[in-house]
Amino acid sequence: MLLMRELWMIMGILAVAVVCSPVEGKIYTNCEVVKELQRANINRSFFANWICLMRSESGMNSTLMTGPKTASSFSFGILQINSLKWCTRGRKGGKCNKRCEDFLNDEIQDDITCGIKIFNQDGFKAWGGWSKKCKNNQNNLPNIANCKRRRRMADPIEVQQIP
Ligand SMILES: *[C@@H]1O[C@H](CO)[C@@H](O)[C@H](O)[C@H]1NC(C)=O
Ligand SMILES: *[C@@H]1O[C@H](CO)[C@@H](O)[C@H](O)[C@H]1NC(C)=O
Repeated sequence: MLLMRELWMIMGILAVAVVCSPVEGKIYTNCEVVKELQRANINRSFFANWICLMRSESGMNSTLMTGPKTASSFSFGILQINSLKWCTRGRKGGKCNKRCEDFLNDEIQDDITCGIKIFNQDGFKAWGGWSKKCKNNQNNLPNIANCKRRRRMADPIEVQQIP
């Protein structure tokens, strides 16, 4: 049954293609974010607050865009950085001198760089989600003790959505 075998092979290749194709809207895990926060040299004692804030603002969805909000502004990415002050839609601008849309890809290091600027100016209270869900709410702070401090061979399991 040569034909049958070839059919199975084609189906196998198709299955691999579907599983490996880029997914819309990466949902970060706590440990993946920990790795990015380490890369950004953020003080580890604040990691749980950064993660709680991302969870409350975007559900850890790196491609989330919401709005319109105050003065027709929009919020972008895992940190929901707002176009009113910190970035400009369609071109580089704002206090972070960034194009807002650049905060919508799966790469969050640039988001974190701008987030540090926001934090340095206004603190965590700049994020309404943090004030509501994380501030004075120890129960909502994730336990990151199991996230490895150093890069390891295999990445933690990723939770991804297949469209
Ligand atoms: C990290 O933050 C804690 C708490 O504010 C502080 O005690 C510690 O000195 C900081 N560590 C570094 C390396 O900045
Ligand atoms: C993440 O956000 C994008 C853009 O809003 C959306 O299309 C996608 O469905 C979201 N993913 C999840 C898992 O909610």
